Amino acid sequence: MAQRVVLAYSGGLDTSVGIGWLKDATGKEVVAMAIDVGQGGEDMEVIRQRALDCGAVESVVIDAQAEFADDYIMPALKANALYQKRYPLVSALSRPLIAKYLAKTAKELGADTVAHGCTGKGNDQVRFEASVAAISPELTSIAPIRDLALTRDKAIEYAAEHNLPIAQSKKSPYSVDQNVWGRAVETGFLEDPWNAPIEDLYTYTQDPDVLREPTEVIIKFDQGIPVAIDGVSYSAIDMVKKMNELAGFHGIGRIDLVEDRLVGIKSREIYEAPAGIALIQAHEELENLTLERDVNRFKKGIEDKWATMVYEGLWFSDLKRSLDVFIDHTQHYVSGEIRLKLRGGRAVVTGRRSEQSLYDFNLATYDTGDSFDSSLAKGFIELWALPSKISAKRSHGK
Ligand code: ARG
Repeated sequence: MAQRVVLAYSGGLDTSVGIGWLKDATGKEVVAMAIDVGQGGEDMEVIRQRALDCGAVESVVIDAQAEFADDYIMPALKANALYQKRYPLVSALSRPLIAKYLAKTAKELGADTVAHGCTGKGNDQVRFEASVAAISPELTSIAPIRDLALTRDKAIEYAAEHNLPIAQSKKSPYSVDQNVWGRAVETGFLEDPWNAPIEDLYTYTQDPDVLREPTEVIIKFDQGIPVAIDGVSYSAIDMVKKMNELAGFHGIGRIDLVEDRLVGIKSREIYEAPAGIALIQAHEELENLTLERDVNRFKKGIEDKWATMVYEGLWFSDLKRSLDVFIDHTQHYVSGEIRLKLRGGRAVVTGRRSEQSLYDFNLATYDTGDSFDSSLAKGFIELWALPSKISAKRSHGK
């Protein structure tokens, strides 16, 4: 039997040409694998067929939307994961899932190599290959654009020569990656970081500057997972879709960021992640209400580490898994409701309640009912400040 390579196939020009290009360069049969992570756009069956028309020996389509939401997005939400405090890891979350299915498909269909359409400059190549290495170390990874010098011009030429059924009429000036957790847009005029983004870039969000009536929603969480909006239950994937709709309408979750890539480059990125930003805000505030102080503080450092590791392609690493265990443990009491007001590009928390709340009205109030014994504060402060006091005496020479 001929050797095989499984290609992560998007249906676009690069990976369509990549099928023939890989076959010519390696002599291997090419299996195309397309994954639905809620990116929308073309019908997956059309994409499956196109791979065959472009010369794939087999073409598989995998609907991984629910798994993506349950096993990748929800852990990110529990981690309030924002790389550089702003980017909700949209692309970074989908790569390990795609890699998992590349490895699985390779095993099932007898391939010794996997391939992806990334360039040699980005994070995604690292995420794919590091994930594949962690799952199936015996597999080899190859990237036609990076390793076989498949440039865009060559791709267009190849497609024309071979009569490949790919629409390439209007070439988008941007490089876009999208899934249900958000959209990433780069290149084109955005490469000058002084250039302001234009309305055209956005598809998940409406213009936040247009005045609209605010929307108020109550989001119910169960152990860190959002499970209902205004009393209506949703699965994780439907929750994210519904919040994209509600928050997207108010232009929430637009991000314009100069980002530190793993490969050392700074790049300018535009993101939109309406559900992501609204849900993280709600989740974080519920943690403020329900987490014991030191857990809440310590978790921030873990969150940052988690986000950085996932950004850098280490989803399947031992440390990342250990951080997941810690994060999961913290979510035990993160149940309750958050009221969000959505308007003008912002999701603002206006109320929170929980049966697991650590907020004690009688301790917090300045009115009658106060049960806090202020007389204890005086002695507490004496001891709290004692080390500083001793040290200050030394530096003042006493
Ligand atoms: N810079 C982002 C990241 O590393 C987005 C990458 C998106 N990929 C793309 N082909 N546009 O996660």
